[in-house]
Amino acid sequence: MEPYRIKVVEPIPITTRDYRERRYAEAGYNQFNLTADDVTIDLLSDSGTGALSAEQQAAGMRGDETYAGARSFFRFREVAEELTGFPHIFPVHQGRAAERILFSALLKPGQLSVGNTHFDTTRANVELVGAVVRDLPCPEAADLDSDAPFKGDIDLVALEAVLAGPEDVGLVLMTITNNGGGGQPVSMANLEAVSALCRRFGVPFFLDAARFAENAWLVTQREERYRDHSPRDVAKLAFRLADGCVVSLKKDGIVHIGGMLALADTELAKQCELLLIATEGFRTYGGLSGRDLDMCAQGLMEVTHPAYLKERADATAYLAQCAREAGVDSVTPTGVHAVYLNAGRLLPHIPSHQFTGHALASELYLAGGVRCAELGSLYLGEINESGELLTPAPFELVRLAIPRRVYTRSHLEYVAETLASIAKHPERVPGYRLTEAPAVLRPFRARLDQV
Ligand code: F0G
Repeated sequence: MEPYRIKVVEPIPITTRDYRERRYAEAGYNQFNLTADDVTIDLLSDSGTGALSAEQQAAGMRGDETYAGARSFFRFREVAEELTGFPHIFPVHQGRAAERILFSALLKPGQLSVGNTHFDTTRANVELVGAVVRDLPCPEAADLDSDAPFKGDIDLVALEAVLAGPEDVGLVLMTITNNGGGGQPVSMANLEAVSALCRRFGVPFFLDAARFAENAWLVTQREERYRDHSPRDVAKLAFRLADGCVVSLKKDGIVHIGGMLALADTELAKQCELLLIATEGFRTYGGLSGRDLDMCAQGLMEVTHPAYLKERADATAYLAQCAREAGVDSVTPTGVHAVYLNAGRLLPHIPSHQFTGHALASELYLAGGVRCAELGSLYLGEINESGELLTPAPFELVRLAIPRRVYTRSHLEYVAETLASIAKHPERVPGYRLTEAPAVLRPFRARLDQV
């Protein structure tokens, strides 16, 4: 059961299918154009969508809004330093700001950023400085149905070959958990091996630690050597393998806005501090208010509680199990922050060029007011400006991201029932075609029509 009770509630919109059909058509069949009033259960993202605890709200009231040297910063830094072990802690407004600052300071044009799977903003920030992304997911990641425990790992053989090869590697970045790769965890053994390789080849090693606590939880559940460790101890050990980290605190900081860049190297920290002051804010607030910093500090303490992590993992697994019983498969083993539905398997009559994943995501909205994110050919495929799919994505997935501490099991059961109603007559689900296909940031700006 949830290790908390509810003290503040917010009504959710209950709408009719007629209303949703009208609004979705007006939205150009793109869920990013829907508004909060259109959505009953919002599983679009687990980022910045969590519920604050009473202690976080209390911490927010103690927020110190002094421009330079605010007490809130020192409280935030104490917690972040204890967790990560890094001496240089910079707050930023969200994860992608930390990425931009780090890559601007560290990567040169033409250099490689090598990782398990870069998240999309991370990839964009690498490319914006003229560097190149190389994703090397482990081979197990390609089998959606395998029960391999750490499908978020990097392929160590491929990594060593790149590091030993002629290409110029600027940094290695491990994303924990691997959001782009089905929310799968990375083992400590893999992180240890990456760390050793990076030291051997003299390449800096960073973590994208947006979901560090959820990764640590899965390590305690799936990796024999860490069975008796607390999630916080695992997280601490993981940070200590790296030279620094970029963190979106909107996930495992359980705050609505916030991020962090933490570094071991003093010279690199000096360069990053310049960029921070020029573009985010002075080093003791970095684009956040004192209130935000205090709520982040408290969130970073709460997020590693085993009872919280266990319930969150159980709830996500429960949703995946209900979906499977209703005939909708998802990527296994289930991670913590999301269920990745296998739309391609449920809707074999819809070809990739009619956007199978988008078709399932759309039907979830039309049938039940459930909003989620497509991770298939609309998002990851190669598409020309007239909206034709040139190369499909490897899989047609739909991500149901679960906000932290927001929805109860009965909300999740409602989502599963909506999925079950779709799975009874999958052949009735229509495909889609693009009517507007912008070349840049397509998923957020595209418009579509039903086929
Ligand atoms: N890294 C990972 C692994 C992420 O999942 C995200 C954001 C970021 C970096 C960027 O952080 O949003 O604070 O700037 N993921 C959100 C999601 C948007 O829905 O998965 P940000």
